[in-house]
Amino acid sequence: MNTTTKSGIELLRDPSLNKSTAFSEAEKQALGLVGLVPDVTETEELQLQRVMMQLGQKNTDLERYIYLINLLDHNETLFYRTIMADPARFLPIVYNPTIGEACLKFGHIYRQARGMYLSITRRGKVKEILNNWPQKDIRFICVTDGGRILGLGDLGANGAGIPIGKLQLYTACAGVPPQYLLPMYLDAGTNNEHYLNDPLYLGLRRTRPPTAELFSFVDEFVEAVQEVFPKCCIHFEDWTGADAVRLLQRYRDNYCVYNDDVQGTAGIVLTGMINAAKLKGTKLKDEKYLFLGAGSAAIGLANLLCSALVAQGITLKEAQSRVYMFDINGLLETTRTDLVDFQLPYAHQHAPTRDFVAAIESIQPTTIIGVSTVGGAFTQQVIQSMSRINERPVILALSNPTEHAECTAEQAYTWSKGKAIYAAGVQFAPVHYDGQTFLPGQANNFYIFPAVGMAIFATQAKRVTDEMFIEAGQAVADQVPPELLKQGLLYPLQSNILEAEIQTAARVAKLVFDAGLGRVDRPTDMVSFIRKHVYKPEYADETSAD
Ligand code: NAI
Repeated sequence: MNTTTKSGIELLRDPSLNKSTAFSEAEKQALGLVGLVPDVTETEELQLQRVMMQLGQKNTDLERYIYLINLLDHNETLFYRTIMADPARFLPIVYNPTIGEACLKFGHIYRQARGMYLSITRRGKVKEILNNWPQKDIRFICVTDGGRILGLGDLGANGAGIPIGKLQLYTACAGVPPQYLLPMYLDAGTNNEHYLNDPLYLGLRRTRPPTAELFSFVDEFVEAVQEVFPKCCIHFEDWTGADAVRLLQRYRDNYCVYNDDVQGTAGIVLTGMINAAKLKGTKLKDEKYLFLGAGSAAIGLANLLCSALVAQGITLKEAQSRVYMFDINGLLETTRTDLVDFQLPYAHQHAPTRDFVAAIESIQPTTIIGVSTVGGAFTQQVIQSMSRINERPVILALSNPTEHAECTAEQAYTWSKGKAIYAAGVQFAPVHYDGQTFLPGQANNFYIFPAVGMAIFATQAKRVTDEMFIEAGQAVADQVPPELLKQGLLYPLQSNILEAEIQTAARVAKLVFDAGLGRVDRPTDMVSFIRKHVYKPEYADETSAD
């Protein structure tokens, strides 16, 4: 008896069932496959060798990305087998930084539909459209409107590559089974003239609507998801800063939603701050923070950081007084009239300035955090000023993709004469300086959101709270071995990411149960509970009984 109703060509064309050259003789006989595939039975190991060989013949990471997505379109198991075999090598291809380039060219490299595309012109019919999706038990929708893709700005429909890549990381990094994941692009137009004029652009050819109109479309979407996929968590990704913060505020108390740019980023940066403090022998509350950028990532991080500081025994006001921000119009201070409500807690009394170095000299921060999208914004002068003020300046250059990093690892270590404690949003190679080897970590939220996702999946959590991201940030920090921390590595190695995320997910799951948010029975052993839910990229025996 076969475990699926599909057979023959129909089976081969289903990427979740296709084994390509690995069907056994019994399966070929039972499923009508004789003659439809080469007359061999290969192991997955051998198939992986072929994939690696073919990948080796590609010249650029974008070509490797296209190859891998094509593999996913035909054979999901082999795709995940490939990226999970060597995450350190493949995460930068299926996600940052290659995904940035893939999004810029999305309409040009497009092969086949993946996920869903929901246009604002379909208002009133969203529920009906969601019902078109073949899987009925969806646990995560990752949704963008393409408003602020990575540090690349408004990419409109080209941003559809982001939810696709993000959800692949749920599986590759934390083992969330792929059939429960649905990437979604909400098309409300774009203000990107270049794409509006590109004949191969795949979105609505109109500019973005006023916020109220956009939000009413998102309201309909969120409501429809509750009805069509009642166990679904909605993951908002790469909306513009203000929309990201506002939409999170709008839904977080009544629906199972989170925003990765706001909360996931905050969790992973908190990891870096915790480990930087560990290296310095201080506590988070002893530090003073200056952000370059005051958008969704900055606000999300500052809010989460303040919650973590409050947990260390200071008041919220005291916590906020340790956090300063500097944006495109200069230092956030009380005389500024262009600030929005959620920025106000970080606007302190200070003379106005548009000079970042002058702000550093005056505020004397111990940590600077780049979330500005501006490559090179941490100049030599910035790093030297931080190094004069601090024995170990903490420099977090988080904007991505690579060209948008506020400074490179090499610049941070060289300009600070080896004093900097540094991490970036992208992976830089180790730096040799003055006889020492420094290991720059990657503050990428892929250590956080897949693990939090796995915890939500396994516990069927009703809500997503900030505490879950603080716990995840702490759990990731705890997993960096002391000998690597000494070399400046603030984050765990990517080669062992699945195991790191299982441990993180277990700690978050415990918190979910403690908070009474789980919808399944509380297990006694959290780690083995998580392990039971982990997807393995292995073929099922299609001839075995159901
Ligand atoms: P956003 O668009 O909401 O905010 C950008 C902020 O930078 C704004 O406050 C803006 O005023 C400020 N800014 C722009 N130009 C500036 C200049 N020349 N000088 C000073 N400030 C300037 O963007 P969001 O969501 O906050 O993301 C910012 C960056 O952080 C992006 O590059 C994104 O890729 C990166 N990021 C990194 C993550 C990671 O895990 N490493 C995760 C999420 C975001």
